[in-house]
Amino acid sequence: MSRIISLTNQKGGVGKTTTSVNLAVSFAVSEVKTLLIDLDPQSNATTGIEELTDEPKGSIYDAIIRGSATKDVITKTKLDHLDIITSTSDLVGAEVELVSLMAREHQLEKVLKPVRKKYDYILIDCPPSLGLLTLNALTCSDSVIIPIQCEYYALEGLGQLLNTVRLVQKNLNPNLEIEGVLLTMYDGRLNLSKQVAEEVRSFFEDKIFTTVINRNVRLSEAPSFGKPALLYDANSTGAQNYMTLVEEILSDGN
Ligand SMILES: Nc1ncnc2c1ncn2[C@@H]1O[C@H](COP(=O)(O)OP(=O)(O)OP(=O)(O)O)[C@@H](O)[C@H]1O
Ligand SMILES: [Mg+2]
Repeated sequence: MSRIISLTNQKGGVGKTTTSVNLAVSFAVSEVKTLLIDLDPQSNATTGIEELTDEPKGSIYDAIIRGSATKDVITKTKLDHLDIITSTSDLVGAEVELVSLMAREHQLEKVLKPVRKKYDYILIDCPPSLGLLTLNALTCSDSVIIPIQCEYYALEGLGQLLNTVRLVQKNLNPNLEIEGVLLTMYDGRLNLSKQVAEEVRSFFEDKIFTTVINRNVRLSEAPSFGKPALLYDANSTGAQNYMTLVEEILSDGN
């Protein structure tokens, strides 16, 4: 059975998509069977690996709202161990369309049920909100990774996010865990980065990943070529950081 992990933080631009894409690819090259789900209408994860994918035949919207079979919306990639369910801008409407559905928080869970056994890890790139799409992700996940950008106001909004996690644990998914808090865009030359990292560490203590994702220009350039960092510049700090994160996650699981 696979482990489902949501990349969640309602704050925008903290590295959810960069982490989803690069973590998924790092799992795949480690021969860990991985499904990446783009659950954001902005579709940044979809375009971020466009060079690797066949033409999508369907999207996450088709599966959640139109009732398409899950196998029909899975798109293969050039990597043997990586598949993706892409997103389109249609997904904007899903936040509203889900409201009137029965068991509206359980739609993604239903979509994933038939394919869970096929993968070791399923990673869900969430949108920057705590709306119904994110609730669907948390309801079907085993755990969440919370990326936090090392800058001012890093902890802002985290209380609300942790409260949402607690509410989901209480009402929708008692098994939901915090996989870890991930410091992103860390710049060791800046005192600010170090201060924020310390603050986050004292707040989350053992919940924080040892691996830190450095600020690295290759990570921000790679998506414009439709590639993950590992295939754009394998030796870059960013690509290496995500490989280290995979090792950390896999060793924790054993
Ligand atoms: N470690 C990093 N070093 C340099 N740039 C980064 C790094 N991580 C992310 N970025 C860049 O920061 C921006 C925001 O990152 P990303 O899109 O991953 O955040 P997000 O949380 O998914 O945003 P949104 O909330 O809009 O979905 C992007 O331009 C991305 O390329
Ligand atoms: Mg994103």
